[in-house]
Amino acid sequence: MTPYLPPPRADGLITLDANESPFDLPEAVRSAFLRRIRTLVFNRYPDGPSTELRTAVGQRVGLLPDWIVAGNGSDELIGLLIDAFVPHRGMVVVPDPTFVMYERLAKIRGERVVKIPLDERFDLSREFLNPKLLREASLWFFAYPNNPTANCFSKEILAKIINRARGVVVIDEAYVDFSGKTFLRAVRRKKNLVILRTFSKALGIALGRVGLAFAHPCLTRLLHVVRMPYNLSGLGQALALTTLASSTAIQKNIRMIRTERGKLVTRLTATESILAPLPTDANFVLARVSPGHSPKKVFEFLRRRGILIKIFHEPRLERFVRITVGRPAEMQKLSAALDELERTSCRA
Ligand SMILES: Cc1ncc(COP(=O)(O)O)c(C=O)c1O
Repeated sequence: MTPYLPPPRADGLITLDANESPFDLPEAVRSAFLRRIRTLVFNRYPDGPSTELRTAVGQRVGLLPDWIVAGNGSDELIGLLIDAFVPHRGMVVVPDPTFVMYERLAKIRGERVVKIPLDERFDLSREFLNPKLLREASLWFFAYPNNPTANCFSKEILAKIINRARGVVVIDEAYVDFSGKTFLRAVRRKKNLVILRTFSKALGIALGRVGLAFAHPCLTRLLHVVRMPYNLSGLGQALALTTLASSTAIQKNIRMIRTERGKLVTRLTATESILAPLPTDANFVLARVSPGHSPKKVFEFLRRRGILIKIFHEPRLERFVRITVGRPAEMQKLSAALDELERTSCRA
């Protein structure tokens, strides 16, 4: 396996390739964070189980802190879920395509990964209801909405999987603020369900690396067993707490991203567009590159104009590009660059 090296930080470029929030921390939240930092005790270890953060989050979602685990990004929680619930050489089921870290973190731990292809609309097929899988898999991962396809899977099939699986089912709601669709309420009834959330996307603090898992205490207890004693830094906890307390400014950013997403889809749906968007519930759009054009050429064309988007190498996605929704001015630049690309290719 090769190291997972994210592309180097591209200062000065319009980065529409990593599904982050395009908005830096609002000034009022930044000042509140700096004030909070002044009160921290630097020579002591942080609050190990992130109790203050779990309590604050729990109050918002109506769960006690023992239903919540905080992690160093949801990436860490994905690894902890595998450590806690998959025996040696156990089976982990993931849809294909999906967020690559599920497979990667399972393989690093020597687990068997079963990848089930999504159907032609990138939704769950009946294959996910195979009784042998439901009996034998220890852990299932579903990103909801899915990355990179941007859609929310069929709620009915997901509910059936949760009801019938012997193993633990993880619904990763990293983009929930853009979809408004959640299984969080079901954790009270389903003792095999884990919901993952992150502060890295809509909440706009990818720098802080904070993720959360919500589940019945019989599951969270095991996550605490495999968790490092101080897995989340004091700075990460302080940043997450400040962000939680300042949600008005952040909600405004989320509304703006949703508006820009609508405009992007409308722009790409225009008849002559080289990129045909798929339905999206996230802060990004997966778009099929029209025949006669190459995703790599589209990528390079935009890159020369200072705009970074994501292309793929796996066969199922090689005709697609993924574009994260940016700030209004960035989206205008993208639109102008696409106009130029379409004009040039019409003339060619
Ligand atoms: C579906 C999904 N889950 C989790 C993550 C990682 O989130 P975090 O920054 O909390 O590790 C991503 C990041 O792209 C993602 O797309």
